[in-house]
Amino acid sequence: MNQSFEITDADASLIFDSRGSETIEVELWSEKTSARVAAPSGKSRGSNEAVPFPPRGVVEAVELFERELKRRLVGFDPVDQRGLDMVLKEVDGTSNFSRIGGNLSYAVSAAAALLAAKLTDTPLWKYISNLSGIKPSFPLPLGNVLGGGAHAAEGAPDIQEFLVFPAKPSTAEDAFRTNIEVHRRLGRVLIQSVGGYGGGKSDEGGYAPPIEDKTALKYVAEAARGLDVGLGLDVAASTLYNPQTKTYVYRNRGVQRTTREQFNFIQELVESYKLSYVEDPFEETDFESYSELCRAFPSLLVCGDDLVVTRKELVRKAAERRSVRAVILKPNQVGCITDTVEAAVEAERHGIVRVVSHRSGETCDAFLSHLAVGLGGRFIKAGVVGGERVAKANEILRIWRKHRSELAIKEVASA
Ligand code: PGA
Ligand code: ZN
Repeated sequence: MNQSFEITDADASLIFDSRGSETIEVELWSEKTSARVAAPSGKSRGSNEAVPFPPRGVVEAVELFERELKRRLVGFDPVDQRGLDMVLKEVDGTSNFSRIGGNLSYAVSAAAALLAAKLTDTPLWKYISNLSGIKPSFPLPLGNVLGGGAHAAEGAPDIQEFLVFPAKPSTAEDAFRTNIEVHRRLGRVLIQSVGGYGGGKSDEGGYAPPIEDKTALKYVAEAARGLDVGLGLDVAASTLYNPQTKTYVYRNRGVQRTTREQFNFIQELVESYKLSYVEDPFEETDFESYSELCRAFPSLLVCGDDLVVTRKELVRKAAERRSVRAVILKPNQVGCITDTVEAAVEAERHGIVRVVSHRSGETCDAFLSHLAVGLGGRFIKAGVVGGERVAKANEILRIWRKHRSELAIKEVASA
């Protein structure tokens, strides 16, 4: 017989993220226990994402929660994830959570999943794996060692993120150690080589030196030398793109590139630096250029973030057009766990790699780590250093230590 449970009380409150910006956390109670989840907040957002907050910000989200949502949650069974997410959509009444805010709805939805996992005595990652029907996996850390674009000050690279991942770690600890070692070496190299640079960092904890994109890649490659790591980029090309002139504007360098020039530039970077992973190399409506890049590099992990925004139908479109080999999953992009799971299932169905990702504005909440394991993520993209980034790494280590027999180590090595 299925036991039923009940949410007995619910709270939403304003908190601060790693940038000092306001965000929201939600706590749900049952008779036995409680669960709290905080929403992160992005800065380089896709235009099809859920709107993070109502027009008057977090304060309005809290007011709406008190006025309209709370009474719908009290008495609800948190195990009914789909039903609960329907309530969130119904109360919001828009197609992109623009009334109550995707961050409020995500925090409620995730807190319900966490509460349900606790009440059913199931590890959260396993609860999520059960919801999705996807085999859980140990995700490799994909981390930002150098940052630019919207995440850094003027003068830093125009490309948003320079990423590394351990190619074949033998233990979970080594996986994280490797990225940390690249970050550490890179700091030394940059401070020695870039005149006047004192080691300032980007929003996600990568270094943000005043150098151009190719020089940045050269230093990252140098820091990674001798270590078994893959290199990648998140170009976040929608933030560079000017739809009026139809060019990619590399503001810090005073360079503009047409779509063809952008393609050639990316191609040159992939070839020269042997990149394994490239996220959002083109603006978010240009599925065709993504497909062309996939055709040009048969094993390159071409990844869509703003292109698919964790939406099942956009994942399907990208898969059908063979535009991507990987997709970013950020649950607050779509505003609830059910839709995040559906996007992951769609990716799995098409053999597309899942990259479960943080946002640039984060908290120490580690729900994301369970999501990465439970959705069979090949990667967890959560930065390398900084308390709010390391919180995700440490949670992965805890899961690994307790459940390693269910997450075989060969999955680390074979990823
Ligand atoms: P955001 O960007 O969290 O600032 O939106 C991260 C990314 O583009 O991957
Ligand atoms: Zn991205």
